Amino acid sequence: MKIALGADHAGFEIKNRIVQMLRDQGHDVIDYGTCDETPVDYPQFGYVVGEAVASGQAERGIVVCGSSLGIAMAANKVPGVRCAAVFEPLMTELARQHNDANVIALSERLTGWEMLERLIHVFLTTPTLGGRHAYRVEQLFEYGDAQRERTLKAIENGQVTDAQTPPDIAKAPAQSL
Ligand code: RB5
Repeated sequence: MKIALGADHAGFEIKNRIVQMLRDQGHDVIDYGTCDETPVDYPQFGYVVGEAVASGQAERGIVVCGSSLGIAMAANKVPGVRCAAVFEPLMTELARQHNDANVIALSERLTGWEMLERLIHVFLTTPTLGGRHAYRVEQLFEYGDAQRERTLKAIENGQVTDAQTPPDIAKAPAQSL
């Protein structure tokens, strides 16, 4: 698989280790840096990995910073990116199954190597479930002016918006919706 990687100075050591591991596994890796501890700004690395994935140059992206949070926020600014900051395997599985995450954000400071290996394995091997989940994932990219107006109006009226899962999608048992 073609995978883009990026990290700031608080994530580059783990990022380098991940690059090596993925290459050893036969993946085609694009390493956007950074490659040493000179302080850099995590948004730039979130953006570049995000754009590589959104444009189709890479199938998946992995970003790393100290906490995972800032670089995830940056990657999610790129239209087409669904980046999940993940810390344990089930949330990683769900990020793929329900949210079709195409980028994950990892923390060098908070997550150990063995767990990171598991998270990456789950991220790269779990398929998305599609169906009703795809219908919701599509909405993540529909938040333009019209949707914003509806949402602001709903807040003003003290209501939720009128969005409803269509009956053909909502036929599964409630707990799996
Ligand atoms: C850098 O010190 C740190 O702020 C950054 O790596 C990240 O954790 C931000 O969210």
